[in-house]
Amino acid sequence: MQLLKTKILEEGQALSDSILKVDSFLNHRMDPVLMHEMGKEFKRRFQEEKIDVVLTIESSGIGPGVMAALELGVPMIFARKRKSVTLTDDLITANVYSFTKKEANEIAVSNKFISSGDRVLIIDDFLANGQAALGLMEICHKVNATVVGIGIVIEKAFQDGGAKLREQGVRVESLAKIEALSLGEITFVEERED
Ligand code: G4P
Ligand code: NA
Ligand code: NA
Repeated sequence: MQLLKTKILEEGQALSDSILKVDSFLNHRMDPVLMHEMGKEFKRRFQEEKIDVVLTIESSGIGPGVMAALELGVPMIFARKRKSVTLTDDLITANVYSFTKKEANEIAVSNKFISSGDRVLIIDDFLANGQAALGLMEICHKVNATVVGIGIVIEKAFQDGGAKLREQGVRVESLAKIEALSLGEITFVEERED
């Protein structure tokens, strides 16, 4: 998605050979116009699939997730990482270990909002080692929901998450794929834009 790549080049900062800072439009301040365009692009890529619900994870997945849901005309659910005082229903949970942060989180979704037979599109902001997406898939499998695909805003193609997810036979669509980062330099995977 050219608009996103341009934004990444203009405002993204490679902090090291593995971390891209994009807090001016995705992880802290959000650009709603760009976010809406992302929602349209996710719809374009998944429109032939029947989708009942978009599933993402707090916090940075919520922006792109809700825009995808808006365009698809379905609700969005975000998995929670922290316990909520009002979320006291039966919870479907998965454990997610972050190699980037070196910490484990239990993520949870109420069983009221996702159930057997649902066709789910998973959306997230970053794909690094794939643990968050695998956790969301696990939640879907626990309730016999079908994962129709995974939509990612920025995939770090030099990390193994993309391969892990695609090995499971799930379709992964990333709006921007980063081939390499080095201090101050960002290189994209060359792709045909269609
Ligand atoms: P994984 O799910 O692919 O295995 O990713 P990992 O655990 O390594 O990532 C942990 C957190 O760090 C996630 O956010 C993820 O989005 C974020 N992250 C990973 N690599 C990068 C990067 O290069 N740049 C940025 N900006 N973020 C990265 P989170 O903790 O869930 O935070 P949030 O959703 O509340 O923002
Ligand atoms: Na994030
Ligand atoms: Na995220």
